[in-house]
Amino acid sequence: MRHFIGLRREHRQLLSLLPALFKHALRRRSTQLCRDDRSYYITTPIFYVNASPHLGHLYSAVIADCLHRYKLLQGFKSQFATGTDEHGLKIQQAAEAAGKDPLTFCTDVSERFRHLFSSCNISYTDYIRTTQQRHRQAVEHFWSVLWNKGLIYKGSYEGWYSTQDESFLTPLQVSDALDSSGKEIKVSLESGHKVEWMKEENYMFRLSAFRSQLLDWLRGNPHAVQPERFQQAVLQLLQEDLPDLSVSRQRNRLQWGIPVPGDPEQTIYVWLDALVNYLTVAGYPHEHDQWWRVAHHVIGKDILKFHAVYWPAFLLGAGLPLPKTIYVHSHWTVEGKKMSKSVGNVVDPLECSQMFTTDGMRYFLLRQGVPDSDCDYTDNKVMKLLNAELADSLGGLLNRCTAPALNPAQVYPCFCPQSFPREQGGRAVEEDYHMLEAVKSLPAVVEKHYESMHMYKALEAISACVRQTNGFVQRHTPWKLDQRDSKDKRWQDTIVHVSLECLRIYGTLLQPIIPETSNKLLSRLGVQPEERSWAALNFLSRYQGLDCPFEGRALGVDSGVLFTRLGTQNVDKEKPKKTKKSANSK
Ligand code: MSP
Repeated sequence: MRHFIGLRREHRQLLSLLPALFKHALRRRSTQLCRDDRSYYITTPIFYVNASPHLGHLYSAVIADCLHRYKLLQGFKSQFATGTDEHGLKIQQAAEAAGKDPLTFCTDVSERFRHLFSSCNISYTDYIRTTQQRHRQAVEHFWSVLWNKGLIYKGSYEGWYSTQDESFLTPLQVSDALDSSGKEIKVSLESGHKVEWMKEENYMFRLSAFRSQLLDWLRGNPHAVQPERFQQAVLQLLQEDLPDLSVSRQRNRLQWGIPVPGDPEQTIYVWLDALVNYLTVAGYPHEHDQWWRVAHHVIGKDILKFHAVYWPAFLLGAGLPLPKTIYVHSHWTVEGKKMSKSVGNVVDPLECSQMFTTDGMRYFLLRQGVPDSDCDYTDNKVMKLLNAELADSLGGLLNRCTAPALNPAQVYPCFCPQSFPREQGGRAVEEDYHMLEAVKSLPAVVEKHYESMHMYKALEAISACVRQTNGFVQRHTPWKLDQRDSKDKRWQDTIVHVSLECLRIYGTLLQPIIPETSNKLLSRLGVQPEERSWAALNFLSRYQGLDCPFEGRALGVDSGVLFTRLGTQNVDKEKPKKTKKSANSK
């Protein structure tokens, strides 16, 4: 009996513990869900090392960097991968032409990309090279999975191949052209690059079997490929012929690549090899789910087919989830012309960031780059834009509100609710209320545009608000108010407080675009590193009747002009370097 009673008590104890255990299990599950939901993985294309980096490469990297930084500010755990694409015929030929062994050649150029990215504050968390052992292991495993599923078979390929694009083309995708010596050649309709007829024994991937699954994926995920016009372009591609894809080359033609597992006479096709890099960084073939489930790719429009048709088909074949989003951007032209080595108009991004500063170039690329259509680069445009928006408008506003004449105590002054009441009746006028509304809704606007890779729209919105804040200061000319008159002084402080609050919002939102300048701005305002996240935005809390942690706080040190105005001397002093020879990109 005693025994029974003991058991019953134990049961009772256990029963009483159950809700807590249950809660604990639920909490664990929800933190797990939470942790997973707050993971983000963003990639750039990996860059060919046949030539030095150019402006277009930096553009892909800056977009991805911006998304990565934005997600971090939102409290996500984010992984950001970039790197170099080092195998294939094109690289093999470039190394031969340079008289170097392929790996030394690749290492040299890969280092140039890495140097450019570090110089431009591209905050990647992983830099992958396809010549790394971890990648070879991932590619071999991926190949074996497709092979074991019967999705790869030995066949023969006969058709057009463009070495420049490392791409197979159907007869409908090529046209006649003349080369520089007047000889008749065939070129790719899409890229204009020369194509050659090839006939080889190859391994083929059953691409044709995936058409309906690809269509289902796109129809079920209308935002899988962004902007919308590129999603439509992929749907269009899928209406056309979708033949099986050759996924290897004969070893005697292509030695510089990963051999087909079990068949050393064949080398794996460079695009299959390259695309797997995204998995390698996620940890494949080992634990990779945490990152792979949340993968997003940034690519240029020229490599859409590889990423939105071949890659998802490979992944479907291997039984892996598809990327969440493929963000596609358009191209940069220079003074209206396509960038090209032979024309000698290739823009060297390192040189540009020396001329216009790193943040200057980042701002220009993201403010002028419209994903839907090609954009044109000129030095003059960069200078005009940066002078107007960063030096004059944003820098001018900061300068006005922190100048010792207006702000002798060098503090974040107090907000006076009587001067700027929630209902009109104080000294604020209607336009001031409009400005508050605009700045209050700005984070949501910027968030929407960052999420859809329309950074230029986010910057347009920020720029419009900066103009409104300048208008606010200009309208009330606080420097004309009498600091000895208490009412005037309170109003003056309020004007400065509101303007600094606006600047704090702009500085926080601009961090993914211009990290150095934002840091300078926020430091000048005395905003601490832990107060710079999206969650800390809380615009003008005093106006809402809440406390403001910044009120009365000392400003940070004055480290000089926010963004120095650029003059023709900036361009001219660097110009002689910008020769055809130094612009040795593709
Ligand atoms: N190696 C492949 C990608 C493999 S990813 C699995 C490749 N490399 S690339 O070096 O040629 O191009 C890399 C990126 O630069 C692409 O997104 C491409 O669109 C981009 N750009 C190349 N020229 C460009 C412009 N003129 N303007 C903007 N971006 C351009 O493709």
